[in-house]
Amino acid sequence: MLLFFSVSLTCLFYSSAKRNDSPVIGILAQEIRSPKPNQTAYIGASYVKFLESGGARVVPVMLSQTLEEYKRLFNSINGILYPGGRASIISSRYQRAAQIFYELAVEANERGDYFPVWGTCLGFEQLFYLTSVKTTLSFTNTSGVTLPLSFTNETKGSRLFKGFPAELMEDLATESLTEHSHKKGLAVSTYHTNEELKKFYKVLSTNTDGTTEFLSTFEAYDYPFYGTQWHPEKNAFEWRNPYIPHSPSAIKTTFYMAEFFVSEARRSFHRFRSEEEERKALIYNYSPVYTRPQSLFEQMYLF
Ligand SMILES: *[C@@H]1O[C@H](CO)[C@@H](O)[C@H](O)[C@H]1NC(C)=O
Ligand SMILES: *[C@@H]1O[C@H](CO)[C@@H](O)[C@H](O)[C@H]1NC(C)=O
Ligand SMILES: *[C@@H]1O[C@H](CO)[C@@H](O)[C@H](O)[C@H]1NC(C)=O
Repeated sequence: MLLFFSVSLTCLFYSSAKRNDSPVIGILAQEIRSPKPNQTAYIGASYVKFLESGGARVVPVMLSQTLEEYKRLFNSINGILYPGGRASIISSRYQRAAQIFYELAVEANERGDYFPVWGTCLGFEQLFYLTSVKTTLSFTNTSGVTLPLSFTNETKGSRLFKGFPAELMEDLATESLTEHSHKKGLAVSTYHTNEELKKFYKVLSTNTDGTTEFLSTFEAYDYPFYGTQWHPEKNAFEWRNPYIPHSPSAIKTTFYMAEFFVSEARRSFHRFRSEEEERKALIYNYSPVYTRPQSLFEQMYLF
């Protein structure tokens, strides 16, 4: 009898405590430039597909919620992604929500409650600004280019690229597999003069527009925070611009980035208080709309 108990308890411990195989990740919505009565915020569907392809379910993180609502959601989800776009990183509803989740994530991780955060493009820049309000970005001539990554000496020991096949790392370093759509970036020279950023973020890759060398991939030293100035989700899921790469290595790039971030979310054990609350929060309650040719996205969720 005693033996039976200890065995079953051990099994319980291992199955429930080591890994969360049902991760749910939030994606931050952002303001629509010319809103309509029922369409004030959006999420590009490629971000949703990106996380789904790694084995996560997605909940939209709506704008203008109360702090209490955001806290409740934070304690229900296993990570958050700040997508690209055009919102202000200094003052917008996107920035407000990003800051609340960033502060909750810093505090949670410090007490051992694992909570990963990912920033893509605008989200990548947003993370710098949240870490250091002294962040200044430089103009870069990079709206619509594809580039190989210039890996740094830190790449080899990184968490982010550890699981990538050697062949894919070689392709990433030599082929233009990463798509950039931004007009600003964090110059490497600026990074080196900002102690707050230097202490917090490990640079995993850089790029240049020919004039300015800027950060293109980071991971935080002491927190599960990651970011890319480029768009890993576009290779597999966006077709509007002819320069978006769709080669086998480009698609693998999408997949390995998603696989990595979702594997980080599996280390979080936040959960919704009830199945009903989870069901109501999931993005499955909304339908993506086919938005070509007006939009940069094939499909968007509009809220
Ligand atoms: C906005 O949404 C509400 C509630 O779903 C609906 O009743 C109303 O007709 C919608 N208005 C427009 C302009 O679509
Ligand atoms: C920006 O880059 C493009 C090539 O991607 C080049 O044709 C153009 O001259 C550049 N513009 C400036 C202002 O450097
Ligand atoms: C990277 O490592 C190489 C070889 O060890 C060294 O020569 C180079 O200075 C290092 N670069 C930086 C930026 O630390």
